[in-house]
This record gives sequence, C-alpha cells and structure tokens, in this order.
Amino acid sequence: MRTVTKDNITDVFMGYLSGDTDPRMREIMGSLVRHLHEFARETNLTHDEWRAGIAFLEGCAAVETEDRHEFVLASDVLGLSSLVDMLHSSPDATSSSVLGPFHVSGAPQLAIGGDMKRHYGGPVLLAEGTIRDTEGNPIEGAELDIWQTAPNGLYASQDEEQDTYSFHGLMKVGADGRYAFTTVKPVEYTVPSDGPVGEILRACGRHPWRPSHLHYIVKASGYRSLVTEIFPDDDPYLDEDTVFGVRDDLVMKYVERPASTFPDGMELTGKITEPYLHVNFDVVLARV
Ligand code: BEZ
Ligand code: FE
Repeated sequence: MRTVTKDNITDVFMGYLSGDTDPRMREIMGSLVRHLHEFARETNLTHDEWRAGIAFLEGCAAVETEDRHEFVLASDVLGLSSLVDMLHSSPDATSSSVLGPFHVSGAPQLAIGGDMKRHYGGPVLLAEGTIRDTEGNPIEGAELDIWQTAPNGLYASQDEEQDTYSFHGLMKVGADGRYAFTTVKPVEYTVPSDGPVGEILRACGRHPWRPSHLHYIVKASGYRSLVTEIFPDDDPYLDEDTVFGVRDDLVMKYVERPASTFPDGMELTGKITEPYLHVNFDVVLARV
C-alpha cells in the first residue's frame, strides 16, 4: 500500500503480515498495534509525548540488571501483571497474586514448624494451614516456597546486611497437607521508586507502597502451581496496593494469642514469652 493515511495505517500494518504468520502472533500483534494506533489517535499524541514514551522505555532498559527488573515493575504498577494473573487464575483455587522481582530460587529447606525469624526483632507470626485440592483433600508432598522482607522492609537481595536466603524457606508437607512456620510479621514497604517507574508514579500522584504480605509459591505434582501472597486485614494499604495484588480471599485476620497457647512441635516452642500473632491460611490448588 502506497497511500498510507492516519485512518488506514492499522489495516496497512495487518496487510504487511505474511500469510504464514503464526495465528496467535497475528492475533496478538494485530490487537497490540490496533490499540497502539487508537491510543495515538484518541490522545492526538504529540512528537514530544511520543519521545517521552521512548525515553521511558530506554530508561527502563538502562537500569535493568540481574536484580533490577524495571520493565516487570512497569507492568506491575500499570496493573498488567495482575490482570494477566487474574485472567488465568482458576476460579476454584486460591487466587494468584504478583510474583514480584524478589523471589530467589534455591532457598534452604525449612522443616514443618520451622522458624524464619531467627535473631530478628518484631512481632512473632505463626502461619499455618493445609494445602488441599478443589475437593478439600490434603495434597501430600506439596511444596511451599515462602519469602518476605526483613523488618526493615528490604528483601535479602536488596540488603547487604542480610544473608542470601534470609526470610526465604522451602517446606514440603506430609500426608495431612499441613504446613506451619514462624516468622516476623511482615511490614509494608515501597517498590523501587528511584528509576523511570518511580517517575511515572510521581507524575501520576501515586505512592509506591505495598501492604504488608507474605509470598508463597505452592507446587504439587499434577496441580497448577500457584504464586500468591497473604495480607493482614488491618493493613492501611490494602485498598491502594501500588501493584494491584490484593484479592478478597488473600486477606486474613492475624489473631493475637497469649504466649501460653503457643503450640508444641514448633522450633520456637518453649521460647515464646510475649503474645504472638496467628494466621491460618489454607491453600487450594487446581489440577492441571
Ligand atoms: C513484591 O511484592 O515483592 C513486589 C511486587 C511487585 C513489584 C515490586 C515488588
Ligand atoms: Fe513482596
């Protein structure tokens, strides 16, 4: 097509796709370019604004490292990561939620009842629950990968004061599907806001805070892996998570209990002298 106009350019683009283009590629590129073109027409995008958009993408690329994933962060704060999660969540399973950039593979094994708090101060949280299938049966051998920030709001990979795997643990459940561990009650923290994504947040009058949360990846053979997180129901940022990760079934009551009720069989049994927090979070996995 020689006569390209602002009205036919989208069709011209589609005409440039070769006949043997993979159908899914055709669908995705067609939709993406249609929406991009419509966005430019709808907003009457100027050259300066287009350049600012390109500079944003270049800025993201410039700060990307193995530990800093600015494009993922951009997707998170735009709600795209959460939307993709929700599009592919199984309705009968526990809701999924954002993975975030701070998961580290290969964490050490944590025994059932083990402690992730170690020498750190802060309120003790006992988290426990059962991993079940959608019929309510425990899933023997399910594996949990758990991680959170230290009380300073930093993940191990962001903080030179922490060991590589501090506040990270892997747990395998037995025939009853039960897991349990102690940790420090997670704190609210800000997503990295010293790069291009931070500039966008500020330009939109948005803050970078996430409500406090504990991350879980739960896996079991024959089941869809679940990436999720839990939040306490009294967190001030529950209704304004900057990465849109909160789902109703992931908001839990953290109940304060007297030290005398701390259960047997935990690593910290006999060592708890102050009231502690308790949360029960059962996880439901859908079959593949
Ligand atoms: C997190 O929860 O670790 C996280 C999620 C999205 C962006 C940044 C951090
Ligand atoms: Fe997090």
